[in-house]
Amino acid sequence: MFEAVPVNPPDAIFGLNEQFKKDASDSKVNLTVGVYKDANGQTPIMAAVKQAEQILLENSTTKSYLPIDGSAAYRSSVAELILGAALAKQSFPATAQTPGGTVALRVAGELVRRVLDVGTIWMSNPTWANHGKIFTQAGLETKHYDYLDDSGTRLDFEKVTASIDQAESGDAILLHTVCHNPTGVDLSQAQWQTLSEQIKAKSMVPIFDFAYQGFGESLEADAFPIRNFVQSGGEAIVCNSFSKNFGLYGERVGGVTAVAQSADVCAAMQSQIKSTIRTMYSNPPIHGGAIVETVLSDAELRKIWETELTEIRERIVALRASFVAKMEALVPGKDFSYVNQQRGMFSYSGLSKSQADQLREEHSIYILGSGRMNIAGMNDGNMDQICNAIAKVL
Ligand code: LMR
Repeated sequence: MFEAVPVNPPDAIFGLNEQFKKDASDSKVNLTVGVYKDANGQTPIMAAVKQAEQILLENSTTKSYLPIDGSAAYRSSVAELILGAALAKQSFPATAQTPGGTVALRVAGELVRRVLDVGTIWMSNPTWANHGKIFTQAGLETKHYDYLDDSGTRLDFEKVTASIDQAESGDAILLHTVCHNPTGVDLSQAQWQTLSEQIKAKSMVPIFDFAYQGFGESLEADAFPIRNFVQSGGEAIVCNSFSKNFGLYGERVGGVTAVAQSADVCAAMQSQIKSTIRTMYSNPPIHGGAIVETVLSDAELRKIWETELTEIRERIVALRASFVAKMEALVPGKDFSYVNQQRGMFSYSGLSKSQADQLREEHSIYILGSGRMNIAGMNDGNMDQICNAIAKVL
């Protein structure tokens, strides 16, 4: 029965991570999967998370099912974090807890196809390697809008709007709210305003992927694209993740939120999100959501978490500066300043697939074939090695 089943190629991101684990070199460097690593190369558990787990260990009394859309306290915490307290009150968010941002996206895809009769979703070229597959499997046709200039490292906003002009009314559009994955290249607030107007004028359905809140500028500033869209009367779907900003990668915790402009619409959307979830995973896992809920609802823990998140963001900014200074010294005359302008964990380095292969094969430095490097995998111990190797392949 299974003889004719072909082998699927390895995942573009996790496949390389597996290959890295098998590499016997003792100087190997992993800049593939988007996980934060501290100065010692570890992906730590945040102090606020540890403390919340302690509280949960002492106080939780059951492992019975959560509601289909997660606990009410979790749902309102998520809506407030995304929208800000005032807008969360004024607008009508329909939120559900999901196992990570990936499932939030899949639920959003199912939802727009089934409930809004969307047939096509537009996504940036390039985008996260999993986006196209998630939405294709949700039954949508995928189309791409241009994103970068010819250097492949900076935004070309005119190209963005020109390609979105080709979209049909009622198409969906996927937007990276902050810290664009894989490029690290973001829109300015003024560009977001222009794009929002274009999306509204074309009656497109926006799906905001919000996986890096707090990694760009701040928790508040990073939410600008969503808040601006909703404040100016728009309805949107937001898929958020706590993998990165809580370091809860393996706990799989995120959310899907439809922001409506009336209570009736909100109730209808909540019911449709629930019926989508019920047939996919029934209801969400408890632990990760309980951690987030505990931290966000306790002023002291929240402060500890925000301080830790700020430290992470600032450390990545410092790593970018250190990388740029070293590269400019090693390759005089070549401009690396784009790395300082990009935000979040990733940098689209401009390196080609063959240069990425060469880095891996000759130097045991692993970046994605697209040229994406995880800046958060750099540290004082491997920075010289990385920069020297990149200078060589250039
Ligand atoms: C990444 O882009 O590396 C992360 O978001 C992890 C993943 O699931 O691909």
